[in-house]
Amino acid sequence: MTESVWPPPPPATGVELRPEVAALPKYIAGARPEAGEHQIKLSSNENPYAPLRAVLEAITHAALEVNRYPDMNATELVEVLARKSGVAPEQVVVGNGSVALLAHILSAVVRPGDEVIYPWRSFEAYPIVISIAGGHKVPVPITDSGSNHLNALLEAVTDKTRVIFVCSPNNPTGGIVSEHDFEGFMVQVPPGILVILDEAYVEFVRDPGAVNGLHLLDRFPNLITLRTMSKAHGLAGLRIGYAIGNADLIAGVRATCTPFGVNILAQAAALASLTHGAEQVLSHRVGAIVAERSRVVGELRKQGWQVPESQGNFVWLPLGEATQRLAEAARADGILVRPFGDEGVRVTIADGAANNQFLWLANQWAKELIGTGQDEFPLPIL
Ligand SMILES: Cc1ncc(COP(=O)(O)O)c(C=O)c1O
Repeated sequence: MTESVWPPPPPATGVELRPEVAALPKYIAGARPEAGEHQIKLSSNENPYAPLRAVLEAITHAALEVNRYPDMNATELVEVLARKSGVAPEQVVVGNGSVALLAHILSAVVRPGDEVIYPWRSFEAYPIVISIAGGHKVPVPITDSGSNHLNALLEAVTDKTRVIFVCSPNNPTGGIVSEHDFEGFMVQVPPGILVILDEAYVEFVRDPGAVNGLHLLDRFPNLITLRTMSKAHGLAGLRIGYAIGNADLIAGVRATCTPFGVNILAQAAALASLTHGAEQVLSHRVGAIVAERSRVVGELRKQGWQVPESQGNFVWLPLGEATQRLAEAARADGILVRPFGDEGVRVTIADGAANNQFLWLANQWAKELIGTGQDEFPLPIL
């Protein structure tokens, strides 16, 4: 008798996937704790603070209406975002996370085989959304200090280029591009090429020379700035991102969006989170994360690490070939970090106690890998 396998394997399908889809790189999400496992989660650049009471109340209230579709165009949310950004509502589109908007923007402009230039190493999703849109991927190495290399991005332009991504601060390395350099770059980009400036971490930026896409939209109608409420606003689980740009371009993006893509709870939470009172608390929290970022970078450097300057809510530790092994060891010690190949780990800045746990670990790694680290590692009392 042959042994039966349960559950039975699915029937082989005769339906072929598009070759680009079959070959897609996998999106590797930051590790999550297993059921029942206690871990400090520093793996997904999330906001460590619990949702605001006003946000919870707004979600609870909105839940009474989940038998209805949401406002398809998120009219009120778009108006508030537009007012706060100093643009017209026609220039703003919201989506189910900024990652969804990336895909919508590309499907609005990329034709099969068009080239899309992007910095690398950078945000995981870029090569994936480009391939899904049928574009041809053109990765361009970032600088040694972890910023996008604007001149190299320009040098990669051909007559097939349709879109260029710029990520500032760059995920996972944290470097920014300056407004001065970005302006110089935009002047040289042909007007038929769309530039998407991904500013997912803009609220954490403290470098006064850093680019802010909002300052440049009037001058460059081929520029879209992409932002999110997942990070500074702490709404990652609800999925709200927004893009701002030229009204005609944004109308095209809106046409490609999934209808009703931003749900009722997300719209209500976002509106509650954008009130004056909520923004004051959130900005205080962002300030605390920024202060912790400076402290963590300072401590890491004392341990002997060459840490690039980060303007995001995370830091980059170049661990080289030891990356995967040490990320696994961190998990065994109760800390989830995000490893990248054999390059390094990205570690999200959280509250002081969590950051201290990570600093203790980084000190052990410094002793093992680079022969530095501090013998008496003093955990600051916070
Ligand atoms: C640079 C960058 N852009 C976009 C996103 C997507 O954010 P969301 O889809 O949560 O808005 C992320 C998320 O980590 C990111 O790091």
